Amino acid sequence: MDFLKINGTKKIEGSIEITGAKNAALPLLAATILASNNVMISNLPNVVDIKTLLKLLRMLGATFDHKINDITINTTSLNKTQATYEIVKTMRASILVLGPLLARFGHCEVSLPGGCAIGQRPVDLHLKALEAMGAVIEIKAGYIKATAPNGLTGTTIVFDKITVGGTENIVMAAALAKGNTTIINAAKEPEVVQLCEVLRDAGVEITGIGTNTIEIVGNGGKLLEFKPFAVIPDRIEAGTYLCAGAITNSTLTITNVIPKHLEAMLVKLQEMGFGIQRGENSVTLTPANKIKPIHITTTEYPGFPTDMQAQFMALCTVADGVSIIDEKLFENRFMHVSELLRMGANITLNGTVATVVGTPNELFGTDVMATDLRASSALVLAALVAEGETKVHRIYHLDRGYDRLEEKLTLLGADIVREKE
Ligand code: EPZ
Repeated sequence: MDFLKINGTKKIEGSIEITGAKNAALPLLAATILASNNVMISNLPNVVDIKTLLKLLRMLGATFDHKINDITINTTSLNKTQATYEIVKTMRASILVLGPLLARFGHCEVSLPGGCAIGQRPVDLHLKALEAMGAVIEIKAGYIKATAPNGLTGTTIVFDKITVGGTENIVMAAALAKGNTTIINAAKEPEVVQLCEVLRDAGVEITGIGTNTIEIVGNGGKLLEFKPFAVIPDRIEAGTYLCAGAITNSTLTITNVIPKHLEAMLVKLQEMGFGIQRGENSVTLTPANKIKPIHITTTEYPGFPTDMQAQFMALCTVADGVSIIDEKLFENRFMHVSELLRMGANITLNGTVATVVGTPNELFGTDVMATDLRASSALVLAALVAEGETKVHRIYHLDRGYDRLEEKLTLLGADIVREKE
């Protein structure tokens, strides 16, 4: 197992190129199940979660030519419809094959995702929506067994809660259904938007993209002819590097980004006193005179993302005053708190609310444990300003979603190396 060794209190400086978004690439790869042609994708992030989904697609019978950030994928040879426990237990996002497999083959089996480090994360809303489209769903021996022998039928779906993966699954299923599907209370995340746009470019009639009501005209089961496309930049990776600049109070530019996707984070950074210059495809952060505390409530896009909560919490530990962070999406997304406490942070938890008493220059290096993907990056951020050496263990979590994190931070001047336990 690898760990990261970081020597703190370093300024960083320079420019970092952001890679493609993991959370956009995952549903896009799942959508290739609906393709009749070779699908060419560029700007694919080189992270473990993508490799896991490719492994699943290969198990289903797909073939591909994969070169780090580019892939040509052929799913016409698909001959299996089971997403096994072995894969799903390592990555919940495997649930994204449920909608497209069912729409294409009329049956499939996907292992029911189990518990998760950040919350219970049920998939009931995905299943309820597919049932409304005519699927018969049974949970048996840990598997979701779904059938729709006569195909899925479009209908109106009202999601009880906004769900990113649920919206994505239903958009993909609806593309090949008979008749129209209307999704009310749909997710508006940029990753959902890109999935809809790629399907639209592949000939599916979709309106309301980027709004909370999406309408899809199903084509009755015809496979789609995809155009080549590039995955959108990763707004969470972008936000994480902005936090690296902020916590070290440095000047930092991130390139290959869509600044509009970062707006909720940029406004918070400005509230904290940092300078923010928005370019066309870049953002530059400049130091604050004094890092001010903030209030954050995580919510759906375009609000402040839960996937940036841990990193901003690390940043708040060096603010001059008391910050309040309310995590509204996941009931258990505070595992990083106990690790930050070990580094000298002053944080108290009360239900969904964390109170962070900023203590500038008081974090110190120690051994800490990564508990989930974003929690891991928060620990790395804290380590950048901690006095002495920090070892972040279990960074396989980090490798799921960050492409060459230590290489990029080293380029910016951080003292960070990967070692074996
Ligand atoms: C996506 O997960 C992301 N993952 C998550 O990113 C992200 O944190 C989350 O959206 C919220 O933005 C991917 O895109 C692969 P949801 P998803 O369904 O789709 C509840 C990261 O760090 N819910 O929008 O699984 C759920 O428990 C990851 O990259 C139900 O109750 O999230 C949560 O409270 C972590 N029933 C809320 O809805 C359901 O059937 C939002 O979850 C589905 C969801």
